Amino acid sequence: MKAILLKKYGMPNDLEIGEVTKPVPSEGEVLVKIHAASINDWDWGLVRGKPFIIRLFFGLRKPKIEIPGVDISGTIEAVGDGVSSFTAGDEIYCDLSECGLGGFAEYVCVPEKMLSKKPSNISHNDASALPHAGILALQGLVEKGKVKTGQRVLINGAGGGVGTLGIQILKPYGVEVTGVDSGEKLDLMKSLGFDKLMDYRKADFTAIGEKYDLILDTKSTRSPFKVARSLKKDGRYVTVGGSMVRLLEIVLFGWLISLFTGKKLSVLTLKANKGLDQISKLVEQGQLSPVVDGPYEFDKIPELIQYFGDGRHLGKIVVEMEKGL
Ligand SMILES: NC(=O)c1ccc[n+]([C@@H]2O[C@H](COP(=O)([O-])OP(=O)(O)OC[C@H]3O[C@@H](n4cnc5c(N)ncnc54)[C@H](OP(=O)(O)O)[C@@H]3O)[C@@H](O)[C@H]2O)c1
Repeated sequence: MKAILLKKYGMPNDLEIGEVTKPVPSEGEVLVKIHAASINDWDWGLVRGKPFIIRLFFGLRKPKIEIPGVDISGTIEAVGDGVSSFTAGDEIYCDLSECGLGGFAEYVCVPEKMLSKKPSNISHNDASALPHAGILALQGLVEKGKVKTGQRVLINGAGGGVGTLGIQILKPYGVEVTGVDSGEKLDLMKSLGFDKLMDYRKADFTAIGEKYDLILDTKSTRSPFKVARSLKKDGRYVTVGGSMVRLLEIVLFGWLISLFTGKKLSVLTLKANKGLDQISKLVEQGQLSPVVDGPYEFDKIPELIQYFGDGRHLGKIVVEMEKGL
């Protein structure tokens, strides 16, 4: 089968397109024919081996992962022994970040516990945009952020995968949502329902005197002390990503800030696919649909990872696997 091969850390144009043996499902696994995949920060980080912590998990000098790719949607072609919840022909989608990646290929084997049935009212292209970013948004806003009706919420870095799904997850709560991103993404964000918009190149959300009940951050661009000043009493700040130094600061100083102010600052650790059935329900009810940048062709994946790293994408970059194989 064809796959995108990660033979060394470098830049996306160091990735190779090659032939590898089609995998065979072990006990508890299914073999998935991948119809669509989407690009994530994981791919950008893994390909470069940056930040350094990635190398602690995936190989210090050379990547141990042969095929990158986190988000997929596809059809089950075969099931291994002991698989009880799925059969051949089922359409599924999932995040592979906790089971070895491998989404940029024609086929992948996945433990059945990682899978959810694809919502029947959307295409594989749309479905592939949902698992990783949708779950980060759901766990950040609902599970850890504990969003409540009537609150004031801000999403920093809101024009990418997490923010464009996050605003739709927030809608039913009747909250006022401010979105912060670069100027060229604000029109799209307005069309998705953000009540207030801010261009981070022109304004600093921690310096305008506004206070929020909940801040979800995809970039962690401000210090924990600055974000704490932008929270109301008992407010929560949840970050899903940013530089390692900033995330460490939030862990180290967050508890101290909580101790003295009651405001809660935390770093979310993704639990892959936990809540994906809830995402499916929102999609089936017509409350959630991804913003898709694409779909693009399989052989463009290296360029698309670079495009993601350059921050030029809107929403989720999607690859239709059968195109360009
Ligand atoms: N916690 C976990 O376990 C876990 C797991 C996986 C991933 N993650 C993290 O989750 C995040 C995923 O977010 P995503 O998929 O939404 O990423 P994304 O699609 O790249 O969106 C991030 C947005 O932030 C904007 N941005 C860049 N610099 C900014 C700044 N200084 N201020 C405000 N906005 C800025 C970007 O726009 P421009 O570039 O155009 O400016 C982009 O639109 C990543 O940080 C990733 O590392 C966390």
